[in-house]
Amino acid sequence: MPDSAALLADWRARTEADLDHVLGDCFASARLADAMRHAVKAGGKRIRPLLVHATVHALGGDGEHARQPAVAVELLHTYSLVHDDLPAMDDDALRRGQPTVHVAFDEATAILAGDALQTLAFEILANGGVPAETCVKQLRELAHASGIDGMCGGQMRDLEATGTADTLSITELERLHALKTGALLRAAVRMGALAGNADGAQRATLDRYADALGLAFQIRDDLLDIEGDSATLGKTAGKDVEQAKSTFPALLGVEASRQRLQQLAAEMHDALAVFDQRADALRAIARQVIERDR
Ligand code: IPE
Ligand code: IPE
Ligand code: MG
Ligand code: MG
Ligand code: MG
Repeated sequence: MPDSAALLADWRARTEADLDHVLGDCFASARLADAMRHAVKAGGKRIRPLLVHATVHALGGDGEHARQPAVAVELLHTYSLVHDDLPAMDDDALRRGQPTVHVAFDEATAILAGDALQTLAFEILANGGVPAETCVKQLRELAHASGIDGMCGGQMRDLEATGTADTLSITELERLHALKTGALLRAAVRMGALAGNADGAQRATLDRYADALGLAFQIRDDLLDIEGDSATLGKTAGKDVEQAKSTFPALLGVEASRQRLQQLAAEMHDALAVFDQRADALRAIARQVIERDR
């Protein structure tokens, strides 16, 4: 069996090709299509697509069935970044090493590019080559994770919690992170679990892994905002302090945030203990999330 580094490289290449394909069609507005491609093709770590592929692989499922949900979740995530960067939200000028969409184009185009990336995600997912019942369940997962009880709800709480790090409880902050970032990461794993026909026990185990991964991902993101540099991150470092965001380091301090990350690494490791070496790619993604520098 190929090692996880080779598998991850293969899935990454497949995701890039699939994204090129879905964004390469003839669209009614060349400008809007350019803005969508700008956002997606600027590069990104593609963690969410990799999670879909790695979950299907861990379950011994058909890798072809990972492709549509992988592309869908990356399109959805990219839309969330385009809107997150808007002047009305985090007001960021740099994303994935490129000018943000509202800077490279304009604000109205960025809003529409986000909207159109979101709907394209669901269209691609609806075309999935899995049985219709599985496809409907995947659509529900992605919709739920993106909306009021997922990413959008978390983004709203993020805005409401700005400037309140001294009064927010750690439970409230974990809930905020679970919604704004964790929900989509969990949806990636859950769509993979559906594609790979996971049984109830496997689904519960994968949820445990995904919940720890989601929280770890945002804690690392919060730490990188303090410790990273803009060139490596491909986005503006230091924004959270500047905007008085409620983050893990703001609430707990850097050292306690690092300790929490190590606890979550152990939690992911334990959750995956029931899986054999086919889950090594999920283990490698867990390490990447904890150790990443961008
Ligand atoms: C950034 O996500 C936004 C958060 C949810 C913290 P990523 O760190 O996955 O961004 P890309 O996709 O690699 O650009
Ligand atoms: C945003 O979190 C997560 C999204 C839902 C896009 P951040 O605001 O911390 O993400 P970055 O740091 O701008 O990537
Ligand atoms: Mg934000
Ligand atoms: Mg932001
Ligand atoms: Mg951030």
